[in-house]
Amino acid sequence: MESSPVLEVVDSPLQAEDAIRAHAPLPEALPILPLRDTVTFPETLTPLAVGQPRSVQLVNDVLGANRMLAMVASRDPEKEEPGPEDLYEVGVVGAVARMVKVPDGSLRILVQGMQRVRLGDYLAERPYLVARVSELPDVLEPSPELEALSRNVQRTFTEIVEQIPYLPEELQLAVANIDDPSTLAHLIAGALRTDTAEKQRLLEEVDVAKRLRHLSQILAHELEVVQLGTQIQSQVQSEIDKGQREFFLRQQMKAIQEELGEEDEQQAEVNELRERIEGAELPEHARKAADRELARLEKLPPAAAEHGVIRTYLEWLVELPWAKETEDNLDVAHAREVLDADHYDLEKVKDRILEYLAVRKLNPHSPGPILCFVGPPGVGKTSLGKSIARALGREFERISVGGVRDEAEIRGHRRTYIGAMPGTIVRALRDAGSRNPVFMIDEIDKMGADFRGDPASAMLEVLDPAQNDSFRDHYLDLEFDLSDVVFIATANVLDTIPGPLLDRMETIELAGYTLEEKRQIGRRYLVGRQIEANGLKPSQIEFSDAALTAIVEEYTREAGVRNLERQIGAICRKVARDVAEGKVKGKVRVSGKKARELLGRRRVFAEQRRRTKDPGVATGLAWTPTGGDVLFIEATAMAGSGRLTITGQLGEVMKESAQAALSYVRGHCAQIAPKLDEGWFGEHDVHVHVPAGAVPKDGPSAGVTMTVALSSLISGRPVRNDVAMTGEVTLTGQVLPIGGLKEKSLAAQRAGIKKVIVPERNRGDVEEIPAHELGDLEFVYVDEVSQALGAALR
Ligand SMILES: Nc1ncnc2c1ncn2[C@@H]1O[C@H](COP(=O)(O)OP(=O)(O)OP(=O)(O)O)[C@@H](O)[C@H]1O
Ligand SMILES: [Mg+2]
Repeated sequence: MESSPVLEVVDSPLQAEDAIRAHAPLPEALPILPLRDTVTFPETLTPLAVGQPRSVQLVNDVLGANRMLAMVASRDPEKEEPGPEDLYEVGVVGAVARMVKVPDGSLRILVQGMQRVRLGDYLAERPYLVARVSELPDVLEPSPELEALSRNVQRTFTEIVEQIPYLPEELQLAVANIDDPSTLAHLIAGALRTDTAEKQRLLEEVDVAKRLRHLSQILAHELEVVQLGTQIQSQVQSEIDKGQREFFLRQQMKAIQEELGEEDEQQAEVNELRERIEGAELPEHARKAADRELARLEKLPPAAAEHGVIRTYLEWLVELPWAKETEDNLDVAHAREVLDADHYDLEKVKDRILEYLAVRKLNPHSPGPILCFVGPPGVGKTSLGKSIARALGREFERISVGGVRDEAEIRGHRRTYIGAMPGTIVRALRDAGSRNPVFMIDEIDKMGADFRGDPASAMLEVLDPAQNDSFRDHYLDLEFDLSDVVFIATANVLDTIPGPLLDRMETIELAGYTLEEKRQIGRRYLVGRQIEANGLKPSQIEFSDAALTAIVEEYTREAGVRNLERQIGAICRKVARDVAEGKVKGKVRVSGKKARELLGRRRVFAEQRRRTKDPGVATGLAWTPTGGDVLFIEATAMAGSGRLTITGQLGEVMKESAQAALSYVRGHCAQIAPKLDEGWFGEHDVHVHVPAGAVPKDGPSAGVTMTVALSSLISGRPVRNDVAMTGEVTLTGQVLPIGGLKEKSLAAQRAGIKKVIVPERNRGDVEEIPAHELGDLEFVYVDEVSQALGAALR
């Protein structure tokens, strides 16, 4: 078995050192070792690779002799085997200090440089070059300049070493400790990476001062290059830094968050939104928009203002019920039950609602009519809407458009607006959580319009079945299908609803309740609700009929039942307090007396008795948006010259009625007031006043009342206090029909009136009113105002 070490150390350096120390005298001739692309310097240790067969033989031969050879650089580094003509004439004598054989046959040697030599004649070329050599000594004259040059070279070199990695730091130390200027120059020159020709020039320069000067130039240049390099390096570094700084900080933050168990918030947010988008069952067009916005969001830093805007938008998108819908319950019998459970009577309205449901059942996709409930406050319009939703099993949302002047409230602002939001329709859809809720559009009669656009036209788009399958909110900027929404509108009056809207709706009127109906609603519905709402149990409180009558008649005066409910609530609250404080045991029975006690001073008075005590005051009936009211017309006379004054903020038509009434009374004064002096009208001024300034008063229907009031004044006969009247009067005394009879009759009952004088030609309207709604009200039909006088005056 052959043991073959990779490296074979052939000699010990000790012998070489001996040779050097002995400073063997320079032989006349020496083997020449050509150097391909380096220059060695005296007094320096140079490692060399020897590969050429002739050089290998040379080294082997000198190792067997005095180890000495001359190293000479070649002018042409490309040439494989340089001959004498290729070599410089100046070289360095060296002693081979150490030799290592490499397995490929080449050698590594370490040569200790000794003196510089000039080559003479070549004595042999084979097997290797041999030439005569003669020492070439330094020219050295110590001078301050020389010293300055040495120091300069030392300093510059130190600076270079500090900045470049290829020079070992030991070298710096060595250089710092050398006193001999020539050795210094050689050492430094050997360490430099300048080209061969330059190094050769340094080697050949025998004048040490000149050599140092040359060297210092080379060093200065080198230093400049090195510095420039570092500068470029640091510039490049700083550019990278700027871009990467943030990145690194992010990475660091991420690492910290991971360490703390916190996810990257931004990413977490994007991920959450992505999941929600996946889960939202968006239709294709919405999905595209969502994906696009999400991609934008991902690229934005969370601090960007855009970021919040996009996130809010995406939240709106995913929260909308694009695909969620509830299944309709179209069981008519069930609907009937629900409606009855929530509302007393209202038969006509309930019937209409049931018809509506029946049609939907037969033809689920027909765009049903849009119902519009019209009537005074508190008659149950909104709560009927809720019942319809409950009967159908749909979500219910209420949208109030009263006072809305800006179409953006309905349709939203474009996203470019700061703080933009979707309009009320989209907001309600989100709240409903299904795409087919019942939407109650409240107060559609109180919508306004101004420079900000017409909300009515936006509303029209919402309600119109031909358009609402592609409703586009400005904020979302995406189409949403509203065609499965059931819209129900409510209004107090019809005449302020914009025509095109009214055209698309089917109006259902709710006029108001009679006293008896109110008592019933109170007993059957409101009492139970209020007991529960105030935390009481039916076993703890009971309302007597007398109590309800007292509340209805003495504490409320309204077409609907909202105040009634409030007063019942007030009583329940007071009782609840007593119960809670332990003041009462057992069931509290609320009698009429107890109700009065708890509610305090009576709020509503039957005024006619007091008001109509004196001649000149008559009770009229007026239709108002709140359901009709009684209206007193007062007439007085004072000394004057026959002028008529009319006050009470009356409209033009009503003023004209007053004038016409006065003319009629004047013309018929012989019949009306036989005892009146003939010249009375010429000597008196008449003043007609209609109190209760807040009620808007216009229209011709007060004609009869004015005539009666003036007749009462001049005849001195007071008007009966249980009679009210309505009707237009012509100059000839004909009584013409008027509107709002139902509301007026209810208002009369509320005021405690027993007899109402109405135009004969309204008889049909009165007969249409269900008997129970008329209660025990008596109607007197008149053609001629003279008949009214007979019925009204005492
Ligand atoms: N026929 C009825 N039976 C039982 N409760 C009723 C009836 N009518 C009205 N109510 C009750 O009266 C209260 C007021 O009704 P609602 O709020 O529906 O009035 P509205 O007609 O919408 O009034 P507004 O015009 O002021 O909006 C509700 O609590 C409602 O349940
Ligand atoms: Mg309402």
